Amino acid sequence: MKRLLILLAMVVCANAGAQKFEGLGATPQMGWNSWNTFACNINEQLIRDTADAMVKLGLKDAGYEYVNIDDCWHGTRDKDGVIRPNAERFPSGIKALADYVHSKGLKLGIYSDVGATTCGGHPGSRGHEYQDAITYASWGIDYVKYDWCDSKGLSAVGAYTTMRDAIRSAGRPMMFSMCEWGESKPWEWAVDVGHSWRTTGDIYPCWDCEFNHGSWSQFGVLRILDKQAGLRKFAGPGHWNDMDMLEVGNGMSEDEDRAHFAIWAMMASPLIMGNDLRSMPEATRRILVNKDAIAISQDKLGVQAWKYMDGAKLEYWAKPLAGGDWAVMVLNRGEQAATVSYDWKKHVIGDDLSKREADFKKIVYNWTEIWSGKSGDTSKKLESKLAPHSVLLLRLKVRG
Ligand code: GLA
Repeated sequence: MKRLLILLAMVVCANAGAQKFEGLGATPQMGWNSWNTFACNINEQLIRDTADAMVKLGLKDAGYEYVNIDDCWHGTRDKDGVIRPNAERFPSGIKALADYVHSKGLKLGIYSDVGATTCGGHPGSRGHEYQDAITYASWGIDYVKYDWCDSKGLSAVGAYTTMRDAIRSAGRPMMFSMCEWGESKPWEWAVDVGHSWRTTGDIYPCWDCEFNHGSWSQFGVLRILDKQAGLRKFAGPGHWNDMDMLEVGNGMSEDEDRAHFAIWAMMASPLIMGNDLRSMPEATRRILVNKDAIAISQDKLGVQAWKYMDGAKLEYWAKPLAGGDWAVMVLNRGEQAATVSYDWKKHVIGDDLSKREADFKKIVYNWTEIWSGKSGDTSKKLESKLAPHSVLLLRLKVRG
């Protein structure tokens, strides 16, 4: 009996260490975030209107779920240290906003930071982690983005694990989105800490540029893509490499926007829209709700793409999908139009990570190109013209 009790005590103790909420982020999270377009210029009406737009414009039906408030929602802490929202921008309070967003069938996300101050200079969670997590839970928050400003002297492992434990002990399932910019290689240690981790500094709406601010830089789509080399093995259901929020609709060309969206889908990065949904052109909306591109992102297998062939002008990327399907993306990074003339039968796509193989000599796949709707099969060459800064995005299905 005594032995049994000791054993029982050991089991209880082993489980007492907090874990992140499991079952969240089984596929890369989808939603919207205020930062890329609005920065600090946010208020409760914007969040309400955005939630309305997500429903009205078919984004919710397409799978977008989280409405995320980024930096600058904060007011001050009260005398007990409890964080309050900025009373001018959020006069009804965050709980009322969460109720509204929930009434639309959506979820509400919020932002904080490991340091005493956020990147925008507002109160961060340092020393208030448990208190903040309880406050968020009491408001009905579903998602916490946790930034890395003012982090001097902090261990990333310690700071993010503390917030994970705080969220877990607050008792409300909240997705934990780590925004540590890849500085301490979170992919190596955060699988049980966050549901996703940023792999790079901030995105900028350009194809291939670096916007240097002196002590920090923002990066265009290709720059972020190139920083993902070697990371795919660390991603999977519940723990994703986050390439930052989308810039679709924020000033790039339509081809670039389509390519950007395709790349994020192939890489199983979270799809968090960053544009003004209230005034978005139909062409932008059509990219964001493309159900076949989203199906590649949200595929149950949860395996990130890799570049399997690097041609002189074109890159070929593959992503194994559930049920034996594949996604293949042909990327024209360059400034000139390029000709695709690809003989499937001369190639075998083999993936050590997922132990999947597509041998086109043995098996014929039917393909559909997701943006144009064109189709064909792998018994014939893939012939196409590809504009500069654009992609072909194919879904391959084994011929039945
Ligand atoms: C950092 C993050 C951004 C955004 C801003 C807010 O730069 O990486 O995504 O949250 O802070 O200040």
